[in-house]
Amino acid sequence: MKALMVSADSLLHAEVAAQGSARMPGLQLVATRQGLREAVERPLAELPELAIVDASAVTASEAELVERLCKLYPATSVLLLTREPPPELLIRAMRAGIREVLQLPLVHSAFHEALGRIELAAGCGQLRNGKVLAFISCKGGSGATFLSTNFAYALAALADKKVLLIDLHGQFGDATLYVSDQKPAMTLSDICAQISRMDGAFLESCLVHVASNFGVLAAADDPQHTVDMKPEHMDTILRVACQHYDYIVLDVGRQIDAISLRALDQADAIHPVLQLALPDIRDGRRLLDIFRSLGYAAERIRLIVNRYEKGGKLRLTDLEQALGADVMHTVPNDYLSATDSVNQGIPVLQLSRSSAVARSLGELVELVTARRAPESKGLFDRLFGRHEAE
Ligand SMILES: Nc1ncnc2c1ncn2[C@@H]1O[C@H](COP(=O)(O)OP(=O)(O)OP(=O)(O)O)[C@@H](O)[C@H]1O
Ligand SMILES: [Mg+2]
Repeated sequence: MKALMVSADSLLHAEVAAQGSARMPGLQLVATRQGLREAVERPLAELPELAIVDASAVTASEAELVERLCKLYPATSVLLLTREPPPELLIRAMRAGIREVLQLPLVHSAFHEALGRIELAAGCGQLRNGKVLAFISCKGGSGATFLSTNFAYALAALADKKVLLIDLHGQFGDATLYVSDQKPAMTLSDICAQISRMDGAFLESCLVHVASNFGVLAAADDPQHTVDMKPEHMDTILRVACQHYDYIVLDVGRQIDAISLRALDQADAIHPVLQLALPDIRDGRRLLDIFRSLGYAAERIRLIVNRYEKGGKLRLTDLEQALGADVMHTVPNDYLSATDSVNQGIPVLQLSRSSAVARSLGELVELVTARRAPESKGLFDRLFGRHEAE
């Protein structure tokens, strides 16, 4: 948990830092302010999860600053440390919704109990029970990265879900570039190297943020294999991700390795992406055979035909017969919109909202969210302005 410490007492600061770092997960003091006035006048750019306020030197006339601090950081839990608090301060603190007030000098057991209550309250509010949706190309260039990144953005933008995309390409992963021009500061291999730090806040801080509710975790960038990435790391990442995101979209790439296999094992649905052409169908068969031999249930596998054009020699039913599986969705061939979007690194829904491919992604969002929550039917019509009567 990341905390702001408000105190001019360096000994107390050191004591809190030492007690906090001994916790699992650790409490980190990310910033310090000398007093309440400085805290409200110099707010942090990144909201802390917790503010620990030493109010021992606060006078009655300064008590209103407590309320101002709480308004400044409405989502932040506040822990007040006091010696002999003026009644005015306690009344203000109660009014501001502060529930944790501890007496100084600090009793360590009481401090840890208070942090436990705060963590529980913060954690419970956020538990999301996320769904993991994997996209995998049957053949190189089928469009799995384009569809997974743009579908993830569409889920966040159209269905207002909190979405994380994880790029699992073992090498040359470039999912971030499909939807953003930012350079990732952290990658999957960096997270694996620091897996003991893993919690919701750490995961969030490692992402490239495309929208406030959509982040991308960039592919491992470790050609020398200096990081010992283990399948267990994937378990930890997905466990934390499922607690903090509604959907975790995986761009699996073509090479299945021990890490991506562990992720596929845990996916609620796997979307093999292929085009309506014989080489794709051949490779698709091989991939589905692998999934069958891994014991993956048929209903978890949902085929997506990309760059679909009606009237070709091969029909969808031919593909379904050859693969022994139904097609869940088709995405039309829309060269101009797709190329523009990929070249500019802007999601196609943002760049060309009314294009055929953007509409198709909207339908896929509707299909996926309707499977999960039947009451969300009609989302596509509402969002694209189609009315019931039309
Ligand atoms: N529906 C579509 N219409 C037109 N072009 C598309 C469509 N979907 C994808 N493309 C184009 O296909 C190209 C390859 O797509 P993408 O990189 O997503 O494939 P991939 O399956 O991830 O490949 P790899 O196996 O290399 O990871 C992209 O540059 C994109 O412009
Ligand atoms: Mg790809």
